[in-house]
Amino acid sequence: EEQLDRIANLPKVELHLHHEGAAPPDFIRQMAAAKGVNLSHIFDAEGRYKYRDFTHFLQVYEAATSVLKTPEDFAKLTTAVLEQSAEAGVVYSETFLSPDFCGGGDVGAWREYLHAIREAATDAEQRLGITLRGVVTCIRHFGPEQAKRSALCAAETAGDWIVGFGMGGDEGRGHQGDFAYAFDMARESGLHLTTHAGEFGGPASVREAIQDLHVTRIGHGVRAIEDLRLVDNIVDQGITLEVCPGSNIRLGLYSTMRHHPIAKLRERGVKVTVSTDDPPFFGTTMKDEYLNLARAFGWDEEVLNDIARTSLEAAFCDAATRDRVA
Ligand code: ADE
Ligand code: ZN
Repeated sequence: EEQLDRIANLPKVELHLHHEGAAPPDFIRQMAAAKGVNLSHIFDAEGRYKYRDFTHFLQVYEAATSVLKTPEDFAKLTTAVLEQSAEAGVVYSETFLSPDFCGGGDVGAWREYLHAIREAATDAEQRLGITLRGVVTCIRHFGPEQAKRSALCAAETAGDWIVGFGMGGDEGRGHQGDFAYAFDMARESGLHLTTHAGEFGGPASVREAIQDLHVTRIGHGVRAIEDLRLVDNIVDQGITLEVCPGSNIRLGLYSTMRHHPIAKLRERGVKVTVSTDDPPFFGTTMKDEYLNLARAFGWDEEVLNDIARTSLEAAFCDAATRDRVA
């Protein structure tokens, strides 16, 4: 019990969080009501987000996001998200921000959204001691041309606050390599790279992410476990996996935490980190993730603290920020 209390109270580092996907249902409901948008079809009787499977989840996600319109809406969202994360013990968070939802790929509009988000984040940092950094994200099912627009937004705003570029969305569409131009542009502007791979795609998708996009982190990556030579490549190249166990279980990849490959990946030497992905959609928090891992695998405070440290080492921020957070 005391062990679990200490684990619950550990300072946590989150590397894989979708900004809109972290929106509390109440926040989206209020925003929808204020704008006269009917979103009743995306909530269940208890007021939680409701969806059938991954593809439907992406649709519900986009419906919820559709009520977030102005930079001020995103500033309010940022405050709600950071309050929620700080409550779960998160001290450093990297969040996926999509130009697709913030101005539609227009660089001037994107700058205004970022300015508003960053102001809210600075305020939250002072009040709650949580540091936020942004990873600009393209959305795979919006296609390679739209991804280039997102990469241009990323390149134009790269710096000490926008630290990375990534890709989410439907991994079933096309190949990682279709997005090489966008990732090349982002890398050349000094951004660190990550992409969703090995979540709904198998080991081949992870291999393509490494070979064609040259990412140093992989969102999920858990299905690499289906090819142990690939797992060893991941270890040899020092690639970090952003593992989101609760998300994987809720979306049906694994039946329970005990069946999740995170422990095997870690034992084989992979740099494994833990995140929530879209916490209210998956009924989770960073505190829940740490506690569920402790219960399922018998991991103690030392192991979970090691995971938090590994996460901070793999963070895309500069060394001064890392030292300040540690
Ligand atoms: N966008 C938000 N959550 C996602 C996930 N788990 N996979 C891919 N794209 C996403
Ligand atoms: Zn994700």
